[in-house]
Amino acid sequence: MSTLLEMSGVSVSFDGFKAINNLSFQIGEPELRAIIGPNGAGKTTFMDIITGKTKPDEGRISWGDKNISLLGMSESQIAREGIGRKFQKPTVFEAQTVRENLAMALKNPRGPFDVLLYKKTRQGAERIEAIAEQTGLADVLTRVAGELSHGQKQWLEIGMLLAQEPRLLLVDEPAAGMTPAEREKTTEMLVNAAKTRAVVVVEHDMEFIRRLKCRVTCLCEGSVLAEGSIDHVTSNPNVIDVYLGR
Ligand SMILES: Nc1ncnc2c1ncn2[C@@H]1O[C@H](COP(=O)(O)OP(=O)(O)OP(=O)(O)O)[C@@H](O)[C@H]1O
Ligand SMILES: [Mg+2]
Repeated sequence: MSTLLEMSGVSVSFDGFKAINNLSFQIGEPELRAIIGPNGAGKTTFMDIITGKTKPDEGRISWGDKNISLLGMSESQIAREGIGRKFQKPTVFEAQTVRENLAMALKNPRGPFDVLLYKKTRQGAERIEAIAEQTGLADVLTRVAGELSHGQKQWLEIGMLLAQEPRLLLVDEPAAGMTPAEREKTTEMLVNAAKTRAVVVVEHDMEFIRRLKCRVTCLCEGSVLAEGSIDHVTSNPNVIDVYLGR
């Protein structure tokens, strides 16, 4: 596993309040990483910084095999580098079918391969089937997205992100509003997606986190409070004090 993204000494202030404080973080490729921490710890802001939505006041972020800096890149440049992000609220095209949604995501290539698109038509159909299979949507490909359950919409959005083949996928609170069965399926989906890429999952549901069976980072006040196995992190007295024991 080689390092895909490395953040070091990153800080961000909002009106004098340090939301991210000298944060350092590394993720490998492939790797699945869970991020936990109390409300306001800076978890979403951390994702905003990686995707270029929020510019850090200081620090460095290096990316990929050539250790290029993400700072100074626009949000769309960062997306083209292969960083995909799922927001909490699903943003699928409600009036289109699941298949159409996935097809649109496939037709939105991030690389310089648009000219090869004509070759992808048959392959495209196969890719849609494969992604639908991966995201539990194989039986609802012809359904209009607006009719899906909340959980299925979340999966469709994950599918649309996977269609873009990101090297790093950021997922903020995917289990919120899901039934226990949907949560379990979502865990599986993320574990599978992380076999071939880096996936960062922010989640408050500790049972969900435990099922991911991955390295865990606990953020607090914009810094890493603890990092390691789930047992290591959840037995840390500081983590219990600020988060688990509330
Ligand atoms: N654009 C902004 N302007 C001002 N303050 C902000 C902005 N974005 C975040 N903050 C503040 O930065 C801190 C970190 O917020 P963030 O949303 O990253 O926390 P979080 O860990 O994602 O919390 P939660 O678990 O509730 O989602 C909070 O105090 C928040 O109010
Ligand atoms: Mg958040």
